[in-house]
Amino acid sequence: MRAHRDLLEKSDPDVFATLTGEENRQRLGVELIPSENYTYPEVLAVLGSVFTNKYSEGYPGRRYYGGQEFTDRVEILARERACQVFRSEHANVQPLSGSPMNQAVYLGLLELGDTILAMDLSHGGHLTHGAPVSHMGRLFNFVRYKTGATDGAIDFDAVRELAREHKPKLVLCGYTSYPRDLDYAAFKAVADEVGAYTMCDASHYAGLVAGGVMKNPMDHGFDVMTTTSHKSLRGPRGGMILCRKELAARIDKSVFPGLQGGPHMNVIAGIAITMGKALTPEFRDYAAQVLLNTQAFAGALTSGGAQLVTGGTDNHMLVMNTQASFGLDGRVAEELLDEVGITTNKQIIPDDPNPPLRPSGIRIGTPAATTRGMKEREMERLAGWMLAVLGKPEDAALRADIRREVEAMCLTFPVPGL
Ligand SMILES: Cc1ncc(COP(=O)(O)O)c(C=O)c1O
Repeated sequence: MRAHRDLLEKSDPDVFATLTGEENRQRLGVELIPSENYTYPEVLAVLGSVFTNKYSEGYPGRRYYGGQEFTDRVEILARERACQVFRSEHANVQPLSGSPMNQAVYLGLLELGDTILAMDLSHGGHLTHGAPVSHMGRLFNFVRYKTGATDGAIDFDAVRELAREHKPKLVLCGYTSYPRDLDYAAFKAVADEVGAYTMCDASHYAGLVAGGVMKNPMDHGFDVMTTTSHKSLRGPRGGMILCRKELAARIDKSVFPGLQGGPHMNVIAGIAITMGKALTPEFRDYAAQVLLNTQAFAGALTSGGAQLVTGGTDNHMLVMNTQASFGLDGRVAEELLDEVGITTNKQIIPDDPNPPLRPSGIRIGTPAATTRGMKEREMERLAGWMLAVLGKPEDAALRADIRREVEAMCLTFPVPGL
């Protein structure tokens, strides 16, 4: 790796400068975006390896190119380990990222124009769950369920009513901004009643499922579970589709040749490593600590007067209503926190009256900070700094002081691989 870096420094100093700049940013600031993490040094090693040179269209044993002895082996390892981690009958590890992963499921199991029952986007659903601006939103008919106003619980009588009225072919759960676990048995009962497939997009919290601290949709008879590999799972940027045996051929055909060409074999090697790590006791400890950390964060923020969407958390994230808590929209809050080296992201909240680029809240997540070894004490310090910064938006001197404290804390928690 050292030799590769030296070469880059000499041959392209401009790109090298962006790399070292990003390394310093990651080293000196706290990453609290819930969908981000620091991957394993072993994954960084295979991402920059000769697997990137290889074309492997097709699947192990049935490729369109020669020279597949090692790519076949590594893809089989990734698939087998993924099945073991999520107790699934089949795994496809080729989706190039989370968006094509979800598209492949819709296009593989449904006819164009079919109805999908999914979570309202302002209540936590993801862009790929049929946002009107997305191509999927034009190709399929998305109908929305919402979460309750106070505790954020999903009202399954209302979901059933919607299902009876709209007869979806797919009932979709999973989210990008919702701080609670899901009742998969209740989703399955609704889907069974109307003869729909069940799909969970667990991209955000799959690491907590793998680590045994959140429920696993595959244990509840779900047809399909999708997950990105780069969020709480700590892997490379890719996607995985887990499904029942009977759907395997349709899913595989939908990914390739339906949607994609050559898989990124360097990423698939990284997924194999990530799934191997997810099976270890250390990963279970990591997942448990992520949860302890969000709970400590939530406790410290609420006792300091902040308002959290649903009042707390059961997973790796919190959604803070910054408008109600501090009279600041999410964009201003994100910018103020950026100034002190605490990275969060602006976020719409349920039925947000404000637009997505000036929403009423921010998302806060602990997977990356936990990877660095931060624990409850650091979460409480971070919450205290956030309350101070957001409580006094006019105080630039305070932000300068807090930035120094954040950097000092960060230097005692090295980023893996740096
Ligand atoms: C729930 C969910 N699904 C899918 C995706 C899409 O993943 P990608 O950005 O890799 O396309 C995301 C990304 O944030 C997500 O949160």
